[in-house]
Amino acid sequence: MSSTATVFILCIISQVVLGGNIYSDDHYMHPNFKRHVQNKQDPPFEDAEFWRKNAQDDLAKELLKQPIEAQAKNVILFLGDGMSIPTVTAARIFKGQKVDGLPFGEEGQLHMDTFPFSGTSKTFCMDTQVADSACSATAYLCGTKGRIGTIGVTSNVMIFQCAKQADPANHVSSVLAWAQAQGKSTGIVTTTGVTHASPAGTYAHAAFRSWESDADVRLGLGDPKVCEDIATQLIKREPGININVILGGGRRHFTPFTQNDTEYPDEKGHRLDGVNLIDEWISMKNSSRGRYVSGRDQLLTVDPAETDYLLGLFAPSHVSYYDQQLANNDPTLEEMTEVAIKILSKNPNGFFLFVEGGRIDHSHHNNAPQKAMWETIEFDKAIKKGDDMTEDDDTLIVTTADHSHVMYFAGYPDRGTPIWKHSSDLALDGLPYSTLGYANGGNRNWLDETTNKRHNISQDNMDDLNYNPPVPVPMIDSESHGGDDVAIFAKGPFAHLLTGVHQQSYIPHVIGYAACIGTGAKFCDE
Ligand SMILES: *[C@@H]1O[C@H](CO)[C@@H](O)[C@H](O)[C@H]1NC(C)=O
Ligand SMILES: *[C@@H]1O[C@H](CO)[C@@H](O)[C@H](O)[C@H]1NC(C)=O
Ligand SMILES: *[C@@H]1O[C@H](CO)[C@@H](O)[C@H](O)[C@H]1NC(C)=O
Ligand SMILES: [Zn+2]
Repeated sequence: MSSTATVFILCIISQVVLGGNIYSDDHYMHPNFKRHVQNKQDPPFEDAEFWRKNAQDDLAKELLKQPIEAQAKNVILFLGDGMSIPTVTAARIFKGQKVDGLPFGEEGQLHMDTFPFSGTSKTFCMDTQVADSACSATAYLCGTKGRIGTIGVTSNVMIFQCAKQADPANHVSSVLAWAQAQGKSTGIVTTTGVTHASPAGTYAHAAFRSWESDADVRLGLGDPKVCEDIATQLIKREPGININVILGGGRRHFTPFTQNDTEYPDEKGHRLDGVNLIDEWISMKNSSRGRYVSGRDQLLTVDPAETDYLLGLFAPSHVSYYDQQLANNDPTLEEMTEVAIKILSKNPNGFFLFVEGGRIDHSHHNNAPQKAMWETIEFDKAIKKGDDMTEDDDTLIVTTADHSHVMYFAGYPDRGTPIWKHSSDLALDGLPYSTLGYANGGNRNWLDETTNKRHNISQDNMDDLNYNPPVPVPMIDSESHGGDDVAIFAKGPFAHLLTGVHQQSYIPHVIGYAACIGTGAKFCDE
C-alpha cells in the first residue's frame, strides 16, 4: 500500500474512532507540521507548471550533455577550505536572500551549482576518521593519503617526525609539480597564508603543518637545518621556486624578527635565521620579469603581459575576511584569481592553478555561520571568474573541499525564512533554535546559568555578521571539522570521471589523466 493511501485510511479511522481532529494528535502529526496546516497566508509560491517546466528544461539540458574527451591544456583546482555540503546549501540560500533579492532564496544558484558533473569524496586520513587540511591536501593534491598534520609525505611520516620529513623517500609530489614537469605555468592563490596547509600541499613536504618558518620548527623542538620550514621550501626548493604566481598572506614567515612589517609597523617578522625570503625571491626573479607586491593597490597595477613571476604577500598572517579587505588594502579572491590567470595563460603549454577560499574554514571554527556563507559566496565569485576566463574545451575546472565541518541546517523553517535566523517552531523546552548551528564550538555553551535552560536566542542580535549560535558541546579551542563526505563539482575535459563516490586521493589522478601529467594513466598515452 502506498504511504498516501495509508495516511488516508489512518485519517478516516482517526476521524471515525477518535471522533476528533487528527491534527490534535502529536503522534500522528509532528507539532512542527501543524503550523503549516493552520497557516492560511502562504506567500505566492511557484505553480505546478513552473516546476514541471523547470524539470523539463533541466532534463533537456542533461540529454544534451556530452563528456569532453580531449586533453586538458589548463587545470584550475578550486578548494573551499571546510566547505561542507550544508555550507554550500546555506550559502546558496543566503545569496538568494541577501545578494540576489529572490522572492524566497532557496531557488537561488551558486556558480558551482552550474557545473555539469558532480560527485563526492571520502576525506578520512590515514590515521584519523576526520581530516585536517594538511593530510587532506596530500590526498587531493598528491594522490595518496597521509597522516593528520603532515603535508606532502607518505604515512611513513608521523606528525612532528623531523628526520623522516628530511628523507626524500618519504616525499610525494603534487599535481602542481607534475604540471611544471610538462612545461606548464603554475600558480597558487589563497586567502590564507601561502604557507598554510592547503596551498603548502602543492609544493611542501612537512611533518608538521605549522612549521611555516624556521622559528616554528624550533618551537616544535625540530632542527630547521634538518626539517626545512615551509616558507623556505616555497622560495628555494622545487617545485616552489618555479611557481609563477604566488598570492595570499603569511608575510611574517618570510622576514626576520628584527624587521618590522612594511604595512603594520607594530608587527615583526617571525624568522630567526636572519633570512629575508622576499628579498631573496626578488633578486632571483627580477631578471626574469618577476614582481613583488604587498597591497591590493599594487596588485591592480601589475601588467600581466610584462610579468612572468608574481609574488604577492598581502598580510602578515591571513588575507582579511571579505568585509575588511578593502579597508586593509587586501585584494579579493576574485581579483587575485583574475591576475593569476592573465599571467599563467600566456604559456602555450597551458597552466595549473590552485585557488583556495581559505577563510570559510576559519569562520566555521569561530562558529560564525553568516561569515562562512559570505566567504563561500566570495569563493564562488572567484570560480565564476576562472570559468569566464577559460574555455570548457581545454580547461578542466574542479571545485571541491578538503573536509567538512559540524554546521547543521535544521528544523522546518518556512520557505523564505532568513537562513541566518530561526523558524517560529519551538523545541520541547519551549525555546527557539537557530536554523544554522554547530554540534560543537569554542565560545558559547548553550546553557543559560540563571534559568538552567538553553539560552533564549530570540533575545540575540542574529543580524550581527559575527553572531555565534550557542553550542551543546564546548571544545577546548574551536569548532571542529566534520567527517562527512564533501562535494566535487567539475567541468571541462574528463570532468565526467569525477562523478560518483571516490577517495579524495583519486582527484589528482583524474587531473593527471586529463592533462597528461604525472606518472599514472594518461589520456595522451591511449
Ligand atoms: C619597529 O617598530 C618598533 C616598535 O614596535 C619601533 O620602535 C622601531 O623604531 C621600528 N623600527 C623601524 C626600523 O622602523
Ligand atoms: C629589478 O629590475 C628592474 C629593471 O631591470 C630595475 O629597475 C629594478 O631596480 C630591479 N629591482 C630590484 C629590487 O632589483
Ligand atoms: C524568549 O525570549 C522572547 C523575546 O524576549 C520572549 O518573548 C519569550 O517569552 C522567551 N521565551 C522563554 C521560554 O522564556
Ligand atoms: Zn580547519
